[in-house]
Amino acid sequence: MEIKKAVIPVAGHGTRLLPATKSQPKEMLPVGRKPVVQYVVEEIEAAGLKQILFVTGSKKRSIEDHFDKDMELLKQLRQSGKASIIEEMKYQEINVSFYYVRQSEQKGLADAVNLARDLVENESFVCALGDSIISSPKSGPSLLKRMMEVHRKHKAACTVAIERIPREEVYRYGVVKIGEELGNGVFKIEQLVEKPNIEDAPSDLTIAARYVFSPEIFQAIDMTLPDKGGELQLTDSIGLLLKKGAPVYAVMLKDKERRYDIGNYESYFKAFVDFALQDEKYGHILRHYLSRKL
Ligand code: UTP
Repeated sequence: MEIKKAVIPVAGHGTRLLPATKSQPKEMLPVGRKPVVQYVVEEIEAAGLKQILFVTGSKKRSIEDHFDKDMELLKQLRQSGKASIIEEMKYQEINVSFYYVRQSEQKGLADAVNLARDLVENESFVCALGDSIISSPKSGPSLLKRMMEVHRKHKAACTVAIERIPREEVYRYGVVKIGEELGNGVFKIEQLVEKPNIEDAPSDLTIAARYVFSPEIFQAIDMTLPDKGGELQLTDSIGLLLKKGAPVYAVMLKDKERRYDIGNYESYFKAFVDFALQDEKYGHILRHYLSRKL
């Protein structure tokens, strides 16, 4: 069956980005010209998905406002003849339907995904973290398209994106151990660990903020136990799928693809600089400014 639905969890508190996230969602922080979550929505639309469910929480209302068509503002821009700005606002005409469900208490990513149960029903679905951008070249099938194809072909219970990162950063992510390559950057997963100590990590390959799930994930979430902090970790739910012998696959990011995690200041700053340098209008000015300054 064709995959049509995507879930974007955006209910986290974003404590690592305080004070910037005291009263605004980290998913709405700008990277270049657009808020982080707009890149995520555009990536999902480009992969051909038609329905997006946001799992939101308190202080996340601006995400709904961002994707709501603001007719009053458009009218004003038209009247003042600001054609280039109207062009930038075209994202509002995106061809997907948005749905919202609220995670009233932050109980972890698996709990957030569980709230999608009613919308996705018996279908496989994509889950894309709202605080991570995947940048990729325009040519060739996108990461999400490759993941959906692998998921369908192997009748997987779960397919995750993975990337190799410097070993000293693995403690921030879910880390996987993979089997032999099945071709084209596709692997079967043998083991997963959430935020391991550097010395205990089974590899330097981490889950890169994109997942495809079959509805089986909901039974695994039901059986997932809270971690030390009381949260239900999605990596643990996937681990339970593996434990019962369900097929779990990984698709490696290609050389020119990159995951930008906006959840901590170091990678947020790097993302902002990279995207600002690519800006059509101001990129070359910033490049000149930075090279003089450095
Ligand atoms: P993080 O793991 O970065 O958690 O979430 P966080 O709570 O937002 O950040 P810190 O650790 O306090 O700094 C990854 C993505 O999953 C969502 C977040 O909004 C983010 O987009 N998330 C996380 C939820 O929707 N619900 C949760 O319970 C946890």
